[in-house]
Amino acid sequence: MELALLGGPPVREKPFPFWPDYGREEEEHLQEVLRSRKWGGYSPQVEQFEKAFARLHGARHAVSCCNGSVAVEVALRALDLECGDEVIVPPITFVATATAVVICHGVPVFADIDAKTLNLSPAAVEAAITPRTRAIIAVHFGGHPADVDALRALALRHGLALIEDAAHAHGATWQGIPVGTFGSAGTFSFQAFKLATAGEGGAVVTNSSTLAERVWSYCNCGRRKGAGWFEHFTVGSNYRLTGFQAAVLSVQLQRLPEQTATRQRNVEYFREKLRGLEGVVLHENDPRVTNHPYYLLTLRYRPEAFSGVDRDLFLRALQAEGIPAQPTYPYPLYRNPLFRKESLPPCGCGKWKSDQDYETLSLPESERVCKDGIWLDHYIFLGDHQDVDDVLTAIEKVRRHAGTLLDPHLAARELRS
Ligand SMILES: Cc1ncc(COP(=O)(O)O)c(C=O)c1O
Repeated sequence: MELALLGGPPVREKPFPFWPDYGREEEEHLQEVLRSRKWGGYSPQVEQFEKAFARLHGARHAVSCCNGSVAVEVALRALDLECGDEVIVPPITFVATATAVVICHGVPVFADIDAKTLNLSPAAVEAAITPRTRAIIAVHFGGHPADVDALRALALRHGLALIEDAAHAHGATWQGIPVGTFGSAGTFSFQAFKLATAGEGGAVVTNSSTLAERVWSYCNCGRRKGAGWFEHFTVGSNYRLTGFQAAVLSVQLQRLPEQTATRQRNVEYFREKLRGLEGVVLHENDPRVTNHPYYLLTLRYRPEAFSGVDRDLFLRALQAEGIPAQPTYPYPLYRNPLFRKESLPPCGCGKWKSDQDYETLSLPESERVCKDGIWLDHYIFLGDHQDVDDVLTAIEKVRRHAGTLLDPHLAARELRS
């Protein structure tokens, strides 16, 4: 059968499960807020959601906010960074992990990732520590927890703060303990693709009452709980979640365990079958991961098994077969125009000058995953084994016919299109 990219019939025409998922419960909760006329951030639904989210992550406190970018910013701000303090971050993450550091007048220092998990490599972090290092932000990439044992030990040994950017890792656990409280704070996003969503939203979890109070104040115009509406104790802003968002999120949290179990069943089936297919590799999880919610499945692509077809052409062929696979980030974060010397904003106090040269930085594992990595989104695994079989069938079909993608006539047609 000819490849769909060359005009043949695709393996799959029906859509994968829709995301976000919702039901009557979300509609009822939204109506409840609507009718209560308490729509804003001081709606009782916000507090109810915060309590439920703190419980899920075994944290004493959860403070909600308007998105996951702000969550990292306010958590970091609560650490009282001084201008020029260095914060170690991974280069394989969303930009917010690093821009939060710049916004707090710190210097992001990129350390390479572990090739198997795409999370910060503890050895690389250790090598990046200098006398100016103040904190480490570990991202639980794709939902696979970073090696928090090693990172926490490093942080303790060097007197650093550890923040977990858990935007991908709702409900994830490491050695049975939920992510978010291995360091000073954990931050989450409830943006539209996330595993629990209200379209937008964020939260900071922590066991520190002081940190929770500070974060709450930053998100509430510098107010203090219990003090007057027009009493402001610090510089903050309005970063609140609304009652509508909290109402939807409370139900989304209830859906999370079952959805996670479905994804886990389907991913294990996929993993088992993929072992028989050449050229696309899914790494095993670290054995200390006790609950992986599978926000993203990252595969490594080997062109040798596909007649030398490059990853991006392979992906176009797979997409034409009806499989919404995507390339990983186009380049590591430090290669973004933002990190060019002329683009970085000056430090707030104007006293320090970063000696980081992002333009010449090249961290091998981060570079590699941007070239050979493929992502499959969580919703692909929210259905049944037939969906997974379609993904496998499409990969195998492209592999079998990969040679036809190198046809010079196709290349000419592709150039014209
Ligand atoms: C790792 C990571 N951190 C932070 C964020 C920021 O979250 P938000 O989009 O809610 O601002 C994202 C968003 O995708 C993310 O992937």
